[in-house]
Formats: sequence, C-alpha cells, structure tokens
Amino acid sequence: MSDDLLKKVISHAKEYGFIFPSSEIYDGLSATYDYGQNGSELKNNIKKYWWKSMVQMHENIVGIDASIFMHPTTWKASGHVDAFNDPLIDNKDSKKRYRADVLIEEHVEKIRGKINKEVAKGFKRFGDDFDETEFRKTNPNVLRNVAKIEEIEQKFKDSLGKDDLPAVKELIEELGIACPVSGSKNWTDVRQFNLMFSTEMGSVAEGANTIYLRPETAQGIFVNFLNVQKTGRMKIPFGIAQIGKAFRNEIIARQFIFRMREFEQMEMQFFIKPGTQKEWFEYWKKTRINWHNALGLGEENYRFHDHLKLAHYADAATDIEFNFPMGFKELEGVHSRTDFDLKAHEEHSGKKLQYFDPQDNKSYVPYVIETSIGLDRMFLAILSNSLKEETLEDGSSRTVLTLPAALAPTKAVIMPLTKKDGLPEKAMEVMNELKYDFNCQYDEKDSPGKRYRRQDALGTPYCIMIDHQTLEDNTVTIRDRDTMKQDRVSITELNAIIAEKVSFKTLLK
Ligand code: GAP
Repeated sequence: MSDDLLKKVISHAKEYGFIFPSSEIYDGLSATYDYGQNGSELKNNIKKYWWKSMVQMHENIVGIDASIFMHPTTWKASGHVDAFNDPLIDNKDSKKRYRADVLIEEHVEKIRGKINKEVAKGFKRFGDDFDETEFRKTNPNVLRNVAKIEEIEQKFKDSLGKDDLPAVKELIEELGIACPVSGSKNWTDVRQFNLMFSTEMGSVAEGANTIYLRPETAQGIFVNFLNVQKTGRMKIPFGIAQIGKAFRNEIIARQFIFRMREFEQMEMQFFIKPGTQKEWFEYWKKTRINWHNALGLGEENYRFHDHLKLAHYADAATDIEFNFPMGFKELEGVHSRTDFDLKAHEEHSGKKLQYFDPQDNKSYVPYVIETSIGLDRMFLAILSNSLKEETLEDGSSRTVLTLPAALAPTKAVIMPLTKKDGLPEKAMEVMNELKYDFNCQYDEKDSPGKRYRRQDALGTPYCIMIDHQTLEDNTVTIRDRDTMKQDRVSITELNAIIAEKVSFKTLLK
C-alpha cells in the first residue's frame, strides 16, 4: 500500500468523472473537491445505503435536515468555541505545521509495528504450535514495548487533560520525534488553534453578527431533540439521524478527500436512559461494523481504535479505522456523549430538554450514543478498495472498479453492436424500459471490447449488447463485470436479473 495507489485513485477519479479538483480552471483551491457525474451518483448511493439501514430500517430512528447556520450560542454551549482546538507545532527548519497528537500517535504506531514484527518472528519459529496470546504475555521485547506505549499514552493524556502544552512539547522532544520533511528536531512551542470557520450574518451597517459554519451536524440534532421527540411521539431509546455538510479549518488538509475543509457527515444521535450507555455503545459498535462488513470490502480492512484523547463531550469513544491507501485511518466514530450536549443547551437556552419516562414516572436528560461517519471518507474507502488492475487469461490487462453493485453509479449500459440495421433503435427501446428502475446509460461509440473496458473502469455491473439476433428473437447478451461472462437472455428477464444484483436488500439482509 502506498502513495502510488493513492495517486492512481486520484487520477482514475478524475479521468472517469468521479472527482475533480474544485475550481480547477483557476488552479483549484486547496483541499476542496467537486464530485463529477459518476462521483455524485456513487456518493448518493452511499447516502441511500446509510439512510436506508439507519433510518428506514429502524422503526425508532427518524431523520432530519437541519440548517448549516445555527444560533451562535449553540457553539458556546457545545464547547466548540472554547475547546474545538488542535494542538499544533511547527518545525522551524521545514516550516511545516503538524498536529502534536498525530506526531505522538505516529510514534506509538512505530512501536506497535515493532511488537507485530516480534510476534511474526515467533509465528515463523513455532509455526502451528505458536500461542500468540501467551507470547504477547511473556516475551520480554513485546512487554518492554507495550510498557513504553502505555507510558507515552499516559503522559500525553495527562498533559492534554491539564492543558499543559509545554509538557506536550517536552514529550515530543523526549521521544526524539523528528520532522518527516527536514529531519530536524527544531520545534516551536505547541499552541491551540480553533477549527471553526466564521462569517457574518446581516450587513455590517445593520450590526454584524458572527456566526459559524457548523463543524459537525450533530448539534442540529441536539437543538431539535424536543421538537422531534414531541411531534414524533418518540419513546426512549430512539435516534435522530442526518446527512449534511460540515466545515473545519483543518491545518493539515491533505490526502485527497480524506481530510477536507468542507465535507459531509452522516450522523445519528441515539437517546438513551442514563446508565445504559455501556450496552448501547457496544450495540452500536457492532451494528456499525456489520454495516461496513456487508459491503464486502474485506473484514481485515477494518479495525477498532479506542480514543486516547477523548473529545470534550465523551466518556468513551472508538474509531472504526479502514485500511486506506495511506494505511489504517479513522473512517467513523462511535461516541458515548453522555448528557453533555443536552445539559449544556438547557443551561444556555434556559429551556428544559428532558424526557418524561412513563415507566419510571420521572423526567431526565437522556444520554446519547453517537455514530458519525464521514461520507467522503467512505467514498474514498470504497473507491480505493475497488480499483484493481487485473491480468487476464490471454495476457492482456484491464482496470476494473469492483464496486458493490448496489452502489455503482450506472447499473447497466445498453449497447447496440453496430450503429446500423435498426440496432440503435432497439437498444433505445430496451433502455427506455429499464431506466424507470435503474440508472442506465446508452453507448454506441467504439468497438465492443473498448466499450466493455470503459464500463469495467466505471464499475458498471452489467453491459447489455443488442445484436442482430435480438431483432429476431428478443434476446440479448448480458455481460457480468466481475466474471466477464456473457449470457444470452430474453429482454423480458433483464429487469429481474439486474434488480437481484443491485438491490440494497442483498446488502441489508
Ligand atoms: N459529531 C462527532 C464528530 O464530528 P469527528 O470524529 O470529529 O466526530 C466524525 O468526525 C467523522 O467525520 C470522522 O470519523 C470522519 O470520517 C469525518 N471527518 C471529520 N473531519 C473530516 C475532514 N476534515 N474531512 C473529511 N471527513 C472528516
């Protein structure tokens, strides 16, 4: 896995109309991207898959669509004005800026790598008799490195907890962390930097009012908790979900659509009775990993990573990490947010945000478990995992996007074998029938081989060829993207064949 794969993904995304650099004719704007004709279809399908499984398939979860601009006090209450900061440090020689926590976590990852190497050596030495658990418990090198990690993590947690930034710098120096660009250890002090974008509402003459672009969609859910609970007659436990844009002035926005300044989140807040947060946290961890695994990107490509540095609102948090081209990185967060947000909004708004529990005959501020996934990161996970170069039996090669069929931008492409003899008309007839149920395209340009290759690169599950026999017996050939096998079927069977392949039901069941 490498920068090479990421570069391939970026150039494939551009060549095939998935993602373009934003305002490219003006040389682009850093860390902003536009989704093209195929990218927007794929993105919409990911949203559908999430919305269907989270909202429509849970009778106790409903969805909303809140505005991006919110009353400024929202962000005071949520803690984002005071605490939505990144600890930053600059290298004086390269002039590069880093997040101090990322530098430390990367150092810890290196030590973890040493442990894994030691385990691999043991495995090689003892083969099938190897007892990994016992080895990890007893091997002196493994134990020494585990202790090292624990010590670093504890020190880091303590310093951040006390907002002791000089101690964070000391830790970076003590660990001998060098700038990856200059190789030097010549660091500035660590300081905090707020990540929210601000703008003004109303003209300056009328008295400008600073407002923020929401840095998470979650607060739109919290401020609507009572509206939804009352009008929807929701009973705890219940959830409110939403998909929408969020904005963060990321210092180090990089790695394509992985870290952007404008991005989309798919979030769900699950309101529960205080004291039940542990079991619901586990429930949502399991439910979310199952959602991911159903896509078939490979279970080995996911792992949980418990947070070291808990956000200001959480009492437990884990990341679902995915094996991106740059290695394992955060894709989704599952957070136990306690009653922090609702209580804070009660205090700042003076309104009661409580639930009357008819069973216990008392009111309380509910606790919350949140699931929060970055839509763009999910897009990158799917695209990078699906992009493959295959060598075929005849020695030739093809580029194929093995997208989950339900998510593919186009489900079927209808092709006349030639541009004459009434084949285009027949192809359009087939297309006009199928387009009510599926996103289809018509393609008559180039040789059949070239057309197939183009659709493979776009991830289209089926190509349907209309030939002279079609005019005689109403049959067509249907070619499967993955097996490249072609079957002759009747036009009347097409709808059912495609439906079975691309249905969300196959994923959701
Ligand atoms: N409401 C909780 C929250 O916002 P977070 O861990 O800060 O938690 C949730 O963000 C998810 O949003 C992340 O797991 C990631 O997928 C996505 N995300 C966060 N910052 C992002 C960025 N700059 N670019 C793209 N996606 C981002």
